[in-house]
Amino acid sequence: MRILITGAGGQVGRELVSVFDAGGHVVAGFDHATLDITNRDAVRATVVEFQPDAIVHSAAWTAVDACEADPDRAFAVNAMGTRFVVEACRLVGAAVHYISTDYVFDGTKESPYVEWDQTNPQSVYGASKLAGEHELGENSSVIRTSWVCGFHGPNMVKTILRLAAENETLSFVNDQRGCPTFADDLAAMIALLVVERRTGVFHVTNAGPVSWYEFAREVLAASGQDPDRVLPVATADLQPQRPAPRPANSVLDHAALRLAGIDTMADFREPLLRLVTALNKASN
Ligand SMILES: NC(=O)c1ccc[n+]([C@@H]2O[C@H](COP(=O)([O-])OP(=O)(O)OC[C@H]3O[C@@H](n4cnc5c(N)ncnc54)[C@H](OP(=O)(O)O)[C@@H]3O)[C@@H](O)[C@H]2O)c1
Repeated sequence: MRILITGAGGQVGRELVSVFDAGGHVVAGFDHATLDITNRDAVRATVVEFQPDAIVHSAAWTAVDACEADPDRAFAVNAMGTRFVVEACRLVGAAVHYISTDYVFDGTKESPYVEWDQTNPQSVYGASKLAGEHELGENSSVIRTSWVCGFHGPNMVKTILRLAAENETLSFVNDQRGCPTFADDLAAMIALLVVERRTGVFHVTNAGPVSWYEFAREVLAASGQDPDRVLPVATADLQPQRPAPRPANSVLDHAALRLAGIDTMADFREPLLRLVTALNKASN
């Protein structure tokens, strides 16, 4: 297939380019510098020239706290940018696969969120990503994921390892739960959904819901450090408070994958170990 990837310089975008490339597809990855999705003419010209069968639309303004202070920019990139991508896809008959987020939910549900649950974003980022979902039409899928970490770009695994190198103890909240997701596993699942020409909403995360406190302990354990150096705190006690509210329950149930008979992804501890090993190797 001919696959065009937006946001190809990001942590998921880079893995997407690798996985489609390895699968023998013709891949064109555009990073922010080579394709700004807020430029409607550029999006149309690029899509018309490449004539993709499918676009994996991973470009987004992902700075969750910064989005609170600049909603226009958040909606310009995450909602209008998606509209431009969808319009261009219609011109060439390409499918659109849009990566979305657990932040579309308010986090108050007692159990994991399924694809058909009511959305109710509490942050500008979440609202702008949901607006992007609403731009999609036929021949499209929404792939909601959470807590993404990977080899490329900044993420929580790297932050936790850096904090552990600089401090004796680390504090992480114990009242926000989610499913860590590793960018290479996510990219492989997205590739499968694209190749099978799936449409509709899918929740795609690694297995194993944890709090950030529990996740930080797992990261230390995976890197051979003492997990008891991580201390639990409550979100209400964080100083300073973060501008964007986080959903307390971010756990996504993979109901659509399960009901479609697609194997769900591995427990996050497997790719975590792989990532910690790769990061260690890269730093030596
Ligand atoms: N990270 C997570 O935990 C998480 C969780 C749920 C969903 N997601 C979704 O997953 C997707 C991939 O995220 P990620 O983790 O790979 O984040 P990322 O590393 O920030 O990648 C997003 C990429 O989009 C690019 N971008 C921003 N504005 C753009 C524009 N106007 N035109 C073109 N490109 C633009 C960014 O480039 P610059 O940095 O150069 O601006 C960045 O390389 C996003 O749709 C995100 O909403 C992420």
